Amino acid sequence: MKKKTIATLQKLKHEGQKITALTAYDASFAKLFDTAGVDLILIGDSLGMVLQGSDDTLGVTVDDIAYHTRSVSRGVAHTMVIADMPFMSYATPEQTYANAAKLMAAGASMVKLEGGEWLVETIRGLVERGVPVCGHIGLTPQSVHVFGGFKVQGRQQEKADQLVASAKALQQAGAQLLVIECVPTSVGKRIAEAVDIPVIGIGAGVHCDGQILVMHDMLGVSANYMPKFSKNYLAETGDIHKAVEQFICEVHEKKFPDAGHSFE
Ligand code: KIV
Ligand code: NA
Repeated sequence: MKKKTIATLQKLKHEGQKITALTAYDASFAKLFDTAGVDLILIGDSLGMVLQGSDDTLGVTVDDIAYHTRSVSRGVAHTMVIADMPFMSYATPEQTYANAAKLMAAGASMVKLEGGEWLVETIRGLVERGVPVCGHIGLTPQSVHVFGGFKVQGRQQEKADQLVASAKALQQAGAQLLVIECVPTSVGKRIAEAVDIPVIGIGAGVHCDGQILVMHDMLGVSANYMPKFSKNYLAETGDIHKAVEQFICEVHEKKFPDAGHSFE
């Protein structure tokens, strides 16, 4: 099997097959997820919470993400690797390009940025310079202090329409993948249908093109609180390998997320 790329994910979307994704931060878990057949690994800035024990993701640095990206990429043979651009690392074009270059050099094949229309120029500039981009909308944790907490987004019609417009704008700017976090199931569905690029959901319902979970949450070992949309697969299976296989299987069969792990 060859290395999975954005073309692999695009093909899965067009064939109506669900995409599986997990976060990872080290070579050992990356290898385990890779061997199990996970399509995509994200070195998320969630590492600020699950590795560093912070209450949010704001203190994570580009060097933190680069360090873990190097580790993950050494553990991976097939799985596509995406690295998060942390808080304020894409505030100006100069910062954006220098920081994205660090993450690509560390082994990422795409970078992820949080935000809507305001990122259009940033995304265009990155893609023109050879850096593929994944967008991230809905609950964007780097803006937790703007939201006043980790809250479900897009509950009102007007807010939902805004999210759909953002998804289209990011695709138009050149984003090739999109993460949508913590929105009602109906909004996840609208967004996945509104764009051609694959839409990976977390707390966004079963109609997204794929699902991602933070690995510590799906193993039930996070130092932080467990979000409602996450599921402890280790408790169910009693074995880390089986937990990952069960997650993959339930995503493929559209059994995860069920109503109990989604928002209406
Ligand atoms: O940082 C992270 O782990 C993420 C995922 C939850 C999508 O951004
Ligand atoms: Na993140």
